[in-house]
Amino acid sequence: MKLTPRQQQLVQRTFLDYQSTADFLECPLVIERAEGLRLWDTEGREYLDAIGGIFVAGLGHRHPRVMEAMRRQMERATFVPPLHGISDVTLEFIDKLGSIAPGDLRYAKPVSGGSEAVETALKFTRQYFQQSGRPGKYKFVSVYLGYHGATFGAMGASGTGRRKTRFEPQMPGFLKVLPPIALRDRFSSWDETCRFAARLFEDVIVNEDPATVAGILVEPISNTAGIQTPTSEYFRILREICDRHQVLLIFDEVITGFGRTGKMFAAQTFGVTPDILCAGKGISSGAVPMGALLAREDLGEAFAGPAGSEVNFAHGHTFAGNPLAAAVGIAVIDEIVEKRLDARAAELGEYLVGRLERLRALGCIREIRGKGLLRGVEFAEDPAAGRPFPADRKLGKILKRVALEQGLILRVDPDWFAVAPPLIATEAEIDEIVDRIEQCLTLSLERMHSPAQRSET
Ligand SMILES: Cc1ncc(COP(=O)(O)O)c(C=O)c1O
Repeated sequence: MKLTPRQQQLVQRTFLDYQSTADFLECPLVIERAEGLRLWDTEGREYLDAIGGIFVAGLGHRHPRVMEAMRRQMERATFVPPLHGISDVTLEFIDKLGSIAPGDLRYAKPVSGGSEAVETALKFTRQYFQQSGRPGKYKFVSVYLGYHGATFGAMGASGTGRRKTRFEPQMPGFLKVLPPIALRDRFSSWDETCRFAARLFEDVIVNEDPATVAGILVEPISNTAGIQTPTSEYFRILREICDRHQVLLIFDEVITGFGRTGKMFAAQTFGVTPDILCAGKGISSGAVPMGALLAREDLGEAFAGPAGSEVNFAHGHTFAGNPLAAAVGIAVIDEIVEKRLDARAAELGEYLVGRLERLRALGCIREIRGKGLLRGVEFAEDPAAGRPFPADRKLGKILKRVALEQGLILRVDPDWFAVAPPLIATEAEIDEIVDRIEQCLTLSLERMHSPAQRSET
């Protein structure tokens, strides 16, 4: 699309997430309207959204039930003063979250996004140990290549080098191990890789001194690691390590929650219950900014003292537990539960993989990963040898531009892309998504091999 001079000026007065304004201006996108799997720019051009915005619109954009819940709540209250009270609808939402949570994660605090959920989990964990007689436990172990958010604590736990190094020094107390995907070429099977990678956590905890380690924080399926999908055994080993060393297991389910992996949470997909779970993105299907902390009910008890004792969780956000957001959250959960959209994601995910397999014929696919409706496709110049494209010829860089030009929204990295259609997608829409991906990949490969085009990318 072409920006108007005014749009162009205004774009230069803000910034786009994790991308240069100059790059954005070469291939800009200003959205005016969204519905279901479709977006329209300000010139009226239609885009197919194959990633729900960015793993957000699980029910599609502007789902009627969610819109109706918002309208109804707008007539009642849109803000409740958090230092004085809590809204009735927020209490109902807490109950609703508890009803779908894995295990007994019925202690809940709704917040305004994924980073806030992670930040809340980190502070909750540290204060929990302070208040339960183990104040020395404050360190967190997470993985390189993982992403937990943009705020300082969440960034400290993230392992995405270039997104962090400009803000150093980082918060102290955050340790990292390599994730399975970074180790896979050293082992003969994925099972073995995951087993080894899980045990690295224990090596760090033991060498640091378990009396200083508070939590392990992991994404069950990591987007920034290329839709890395560990085995269930990986999470079982983490659970055992945490239990052995009195360390809390924290799942960052900002992407994987709310039906995306074929069950309500990836904890249920992998059959391992964490002590704390961070939610975001799909929790509101994009209708309002929202996230949530879920925790074991008995952990919450550490924050309950007698009146006047000053025992409380020293944390809060003005918009946390917002009633409008709570009404949205209830509608999203009700829709997923009543229509069994999590089970539908499992079924449709198998259908999606079947269609994606066809891309292998293009000769540039190394691996297809993921669960349910969260899938990643990795590129390689030589798929059999696992040799990636060289730095000056990254297929993903070309695809990112081509897809936007062709009106397709995907999450594209230089070496892979992710596709995560809304849970309400039909088989025909999945077909359309994969056909469009195939078209865009074919065009990208042509562009890569055409000398004139190559100099442009
Ligand atoms: C796994 C994960 N955790 C946390 C976050 C941070 O969420 P937000 O951008 O809503 O602050 C993200 C965002 O992409 C994420 O993917």
